Amino acid sequence: CGIVGYIGNRHATEVIMNGLAKLEYRGYDSSGVAVNTGCDLEIRKYKGRLSVLEQDLDKNPVEGNLGIGHTRWATHGAPSDENSHPHYNMNESIAVVHNGIIENYMQLKEDLIEKGYRFNSETDTEVLAHLLDHYYAGDLFDALCKVLKDVRGAYAIGAISKDEPERLIAARKDSPLVVGLGESENFIASDIPALLSYTRKVHLIDDGEIVVLTKDGVQIYDCDQNPVTKEVMNIEWDVEAASKGGYEHFMLKEIHEQPRGIKETLTKRLDENGRIKLDDIHLTKEDIENISKVYIIACGTAYHAGLVGRYAIEKLVKIPVEVDIASEFRYRDPFVDENTLVIIVSQSGETLDTLAALREAKKKGARILSITNVLGSSIARESDDVFYTWAGPEIAVASTKAYTTQLVSFYMIALDMALKTGRIDDAEYKRMIEEIKLTSGKIQHIIDQDSKIVEIAEEIKEKHNGFFIGRGLDYNTAMEGSLKMKEVSYMHTEAFAAGELKHGTIALIEDGTPVIGIASQEKLFEKSVSNMKEVKARGAFVIAIAQEGNTEVEKVADRVFYIPKVDDILASILTVIPLQLMAYHVSVMRGCDVDKPKNLAKSVTVE
Ligand code: G6P
Repeated sequence: CGIVGYIGNRHATEVIMNGLAKLEYRGYDSSGVAVNTGCDLEIRKYKGRLSVLEQDLDKNPVEGNLGIGHTRWATHGAPSDENSHPHYNMNESIAVVHNGIIENYMQLKEDLIEKGYRFNSETDTEVLAHLLDHYYAGDLFDALCKVLKDVRGAYAIGAISKDEPERLIAARKDSPLVVGLGESENFIASDIPALLSYTRKVHLIDDGEIVVLTKDGVQIYDCDQNPVTKEVMNIEWDVEAASKGGYEHFMLKEIHEQPRGIKETLTKRLDENGRIKLDDIHLTKEDIENISKVYIIACGTAYHAGLVGRYAIEKLVKIPVEVDIASEFRYRDPFVDENTLVIIVSQSGETLDTLAALREAKKKGARILSITNVLGSSIARESDDVFYTWAGPEIAVASTKAYTTQLVSFYMIALDMALKTGRIDDAEYKRMIEEIKLTSGKIQHIIDQDSKIVEIAEEIKEKHNGFFIGRGLDYNTAMEGSLKMKEVSYMHTEAFAAGELKHGTIALIEDGTPVIGIASQEKLFEKSVSNMKEVKARGAFVIAIAQEGNTEVEKVADRVFYIPKVDDILASILTVIPLQLMAYHVSVMRGCDVDKPKNLAKSVTVE
């Protein structure tokens, strides 16, 4: 979910709607606003996209300079008008928006019902509104401090009261919250892009902090109501980077931005002699030699990047690596100690499962290195060291440019570790850096052949099922390709290790079932082609991805897409590109909402 709040001289709804539009990536099944009109609280909230709320506000504007707004990704209670935020107390004098989960809401709800409170929704958030009412004695800040002592869970909260037209109150624990500082106006939001049209000065709020905003000032307190001083961060991003810039969809724009993202990620970390500089990541030779195991932890696409990261680190550094899904890692009581290096991968730096895994690993004494795209994000702030990807803001729910920049980050980390420990010689180190640099142009070459992918997409667009197969690194790419296809086009696809298909799943192959076979690994090429033959013999429509020159594959595959020649170990940076484009085109051809697929959110800040 995403929250926005405003206090100042502008129309609050205008600022809030503008901000929510930038936060829709955090959820988009319903939205709402509450505005202090000077004599009342006016609350509007609807199931559906932000446009539903927008139409209502256009028809029937709400006047007022203080307000809060919300865009939702449902957890407790289905998307409906009632379950949408803001939630309010019985006489509608207090309104609250919330991102996170109040874990003990059932108990709190029962207690409140006993006290005579009536509930309108099935959400956990509504307890906050009634609890605020319960403690309210003319000071919303004081009431919120008391409420927070009763609740357990994760939250970023914004609250306003009809009786305090000069104050907006906010609080954070485990869900992101930033405060924007303006001239005679101030803001709250779940993420910085929501504020960029108004200000570049922000405070990053920490866990346990409560904020009081007036038109002319912002005061931050800790949970015992002691004032906290906090530095002002200046945001230097380009606002343009968060708009579509002529592309039909963010996903397509972001696919096209990959050559640049890779270049940026590299350049920020290469010194004038072209050597990798990780001076802010203090991994000395001794540190690396003391690492007995590396754990890579992430969710979704970032997890797939981690699988490639494992390969790169094991191959180049020769340290055992495990990769885990964040939501699984925590409950397995994994073997992690002071000699474990934990690498956390997260585009947003806010995924709650990943953040929770980070904390668990830290508790066990591990050293935490994170790879993230968002400066100052929770994961960045809680890590010992951070390797930033320079993909620029990623808006489409389906991750593309974050993934390829994460891969580059892994290669750089692995190369640096390998050189420091003498597991790679200087010549090979330099050669590989040059090879990585070349991937940027090679990606461009693939993107330039988009029309070939459009033709392939045409041929599979009506299919209900499909498979992605590959061996070694290509299996990891298959997983990412399959996820892309599922999330944006809703075609049911599965990824399999090419050699494993024959042990069961091949039973599902029918006449015309699309099988996308990735065969970029030279030393596994023949084996991969054999696996394609096996599915072809059973009627599959085979689409192969191979390195230029390996024309043998044309004998088996119905369609072939060639990627430029590349080192086997780096092939994953290239093989994923045609798969991203294929998912994109199938999605457009099927009339799906490419940038905001159903049921998903870009940044999932609930467990
Ligand atoms: C969500 C998104 C995925 C993303 C995953 C991890 O589920 O829909 O595209 O890969 O979160 O996000 P993160 O920001 O931690 O990389």
